[in-house]
Amino acid sequence: MSDELYIGLMSGTSMDGIDAVLARIDDHGAEFLDHQNTPWPADLQKGLRNLATTGQVDIDQLGSLDSLAAEQFAKAAIQLLEKTGKQAADISAIGSHGQTIRHRPTAATPFTMQIANPSLITERTGITVVADFRRRDMAAGGEGAPLVPAFHAAVFGKMDEERVILNLGGIANITHLPADEANSTSGFDTGPANTLLDYWVRKNLGTNHDEDGQWAAGGSMNGELLNRLLTDAHFQLEPPKSTGPEYFSPDWIKQHLADYPDLAPRDVQATLTALTAVSIEQAISAQAPNCQRVITCGGGVNNGELMRQLAEQMAPIPVESSAIHGIDPAHVESLAFAWLARQTLHRHPGNLPSATGASHPVILGGIYPA
Ligand SMILES: Nc1ncnc2c1ncn2[C@@H]1O[C@H](COP(=O)(O)OP(=O)(O)O)[C@@H](O)[C@H]1O
Ligand SMILES: [Mg+2]
Repeated sequence: MSDELYIGLMSGTSMDGIDAVLARIDDHGAEFLDHQNTPWPADLQKGLRNLATTGQVDIDQLGSLDSLAAEQFAKAAIQLLEKTGKQAADISAIGSHGQTIRHRPTAATPFTMQIANPSLITERTGITVVADFRRRDMAAGGEGAPLVPAFHAAVFGKMDEERVILNLGGIANITHLPADEANSTSGFDTGPANTLLDYWVRKNLGTNHDEDGQWAAGGSMNGELLNRLLTDAHFQLEPPKSTGPEYFSPDWIKQHLADYPDLAPRDVQATLTALTAVSIEQAISAQAPNCQRVITCGGGVNNGELMRQLAEQMAPIPVESSAIHGIDPAHVESLAFAWLARQTLHRHPGNLPSATGASHPVILGGIYPA
């Protein structure tokens, strides 16, 4: 393998923290070397959540969160350097996804917005930063998401088996890897994975997530409510499609629950967990009916009840953790942004028009030289 080292920095819509990975990357794939997880300080997390979910945005608050988030991204990279004994000069580039605060691919004037000032990350770390990956794809007519399918194809593609890679972050996205047609990899956001689950436990239990899905496991799913939630327009849309927590939002669930005033909170959690599992199964059977294996990654892999329901929905197709295929589920997304940074530095496209709907492949992002 080459000696090109990259750092990937990712914070997804769950806003649980920054995942940083160090990887050796070449034309054939990525070799994971080490990682560092940096949780958001509570006040900063609250500010970012507020920015991402309220309609009213204060520009002064936006500006300061852009800088504060960048300081945390830089800290994550520096901690990873210290942990691994690497110097800034050893790293070809950092791929920084930034923090998405709004994603509106279907608005009259589409836009997507990620913050965490890349100039500040370059200055603090002394490492070239590649950032702002999504907007070039959107400029080319794409949704700006999902951007991970090209990476999934590079590391999980297999010539004799049709696979789906399923990422369970705040939102769930799938990559469809056909067995023989290397160029027809596609992907899209199926809908919510954890975002509604996290919101509902935060509201009712005051915790960040439903540990192992145990709260949901003790509730009873309400079939009528589930069917109603499944009629949402996003689930019916043909891909390419992408979405975010500004769509599958607290207001979205509140509106639906208005007709179910007597439903116990725990039963709502059970129903939302079923919504994630069933909407994913429906998306896979509609778009990848010949799929032979589902490989899962993202924090949702730690939700035992969600994984149990997914396995039940998908049976007899096996649902496995990406760990079985060589990459810990927590590191797939951050590795993807390290890989995308290398694509950009080498002037290779990073988007797949079959996943984002862009009119052509484009080199993604901006380069902030050290
Ligand atoms: N032990 C666990 N039990 C249940 N859910 C978990 C657990 N660990 C992580 N999660 C879920 O995974 C989410 C984080 O997943 P992640 O892949 O980082 O998403 P994102 O890319 O949106 O940040 C958490 O918000 C939580 O919902
Ligand atoms: Mg996360």
